Amino acid sequence: MNILLIGSGGREHALAWAMRTKSSFMRGLYAAPGNPGIFEVARHTDIEDINDHDQIIQFCQRLMIDLVVVGPEQPLALGLADNLRSAGIFTFGPSRAAARIESSKAFAKDMMRKYNIPTAAYKHFDHTQVHDALAYIDNFSKPPVIKADGLAAGKGVIVPRTHEEAKNAVLEMFGGAFGKAGAAVVIEEFMEGEEASVFAICDGTNFITLAPAQDHKRIGDGDTGKNTGGMGAYAPADALVTPEIMDKVKKRIIQPLLDGMRAEKTPFIGCLFCGLMIHNGEPRVVEFNARFGDPETQAVLSVFEGDFVRLLSSAARGEIDKSAVRSSTNGYCCNVVLAAEGYPDTYNKGMRISGIEEARAMNARIFHSGTARDENKELIANGGRVLGVCGSGDTLEKAINIAYQAIPYIEFEGKVFRKDIGQKGLRYT
Ligand code: AMP
Ligand code: GLY
Repeated sequence: MNILLIGSGGREHALAWAMRTKSSFMRGLYAAPGNPGIFEVARHTDIEDINDHDQIIQFCQRLMIDLVVVGPEQPLALGLADNLRSAGIFTFGPSRAAARIESSKAFAKDMMRKYNIPTAAYKHFDHTQVHDALAYIDNFSKPPVIKADGLAAGKGVIVPRTHEEAKNAVLEMFGGAFGKAGAAVVIEEFMEGEEASVFAICDGTNFITLAPAQDHKRIGDGDTGKNTGGMGAYAPADALVTPEIMDKVKKRIIQPLLDGMRAEKTPFIGCLFCGLMIHNGEPRVVEFNARFGDPETQAVLSVFEGDFVRLLSSAARGEIDKSAVRSSTNGYCCNVVLAAEGYPDTYNKGMRISGIEEARAMNARIFHSGTARDENKELIANGGRVLGVCGSGDTLEKAINIAYQAIPYIEFEGKVFRKDIGQKGLRYT
């Protein structure tokens, strides 16, 4: 099978690696825009701009691409999957309308209300309803969480400490602090509990889940400091998401959402990312995303057993082949993100990276997130999250140790990382 992968981050490197190494159907793998890690396993294309859908369609026709796998949310929200399907090209990734489950938090919350999916109590408001929005905040005994409606690159959520802070957050969003994404806001109840991520591969009607994972969103050890895109993850998070909880997630969350999307005439084909809050054995939805998560994917696909290409292509054709996923996983994986100093605010780019081969010799798997080649073809940092260092083992403890033993070999100026990725999972053992 010939596949085109869209995207350029650590998630896409993991997708490319899994398609290459965990399938017997893979023939030609191409990536756009790609990154130096992705190009270790995939070929370049002449696609200059992934927003130019015609160019992508022409490439697919010329190279006889059988399947396009779309990694990030932005192209999905811009209708790339719709245009590819209209051109007769099988695509793993939801339509623009179905991707609203991520691109509009108000839409997602309304879907959950309509289809009885457990989530935090909420209301949404547009900028003409400032007074109602501020008054609603006073209804909550604990300060509620404030969310910009639209896509804000993971930054549009404020968890305030006081009601005053919550009100200021609403005023800032309506004042344009998040651009168009903040033109409407969701105000919702603060949920206690522990977070987990579950990915469901969906064909519009049916689904199969992959190993549950746990992300570490804050920049600092012990979950302190600013929210980031994610500083590390481990999988399977099977002590937190027990089989009983997974069963509830499937029955009360994923299946009703898929049925609801179909009833709304916007069936969901792709990876449905369920961001969950688990409290006293009960899962509730924090957010849905319309794509794989980063940095969870690197860990989830490391433990995946089955035929990954068969899984994605059968889902894209609307007839998911559940036998493509084995119920066992291949041990545990811990993925530690190496970030550039300053992330998630401003950070430097262009620092030379060394030691990747040495780290690989320590049995770590390295995924590239924000890297590039300079004019001398040297590897340099080119993003906030630079690399993911994955350790695998038959226990979570061994997986963590392998990742952390490899990290010192990788050097770039201003390298920062959390020292406690995976420790949450050990608490249960
Ligand atoms: P989101 O982008 O919706 O996942 O929100 C980012 C982060 O904010 C989540 O990972 C949670 O840590 C936190 N968060 C969002 N909504 C809530 C909520 N209702 N209760 C508690 N924490 C939340
Ligand atoms: N790791 C969280 C996300 O991908 O949104």
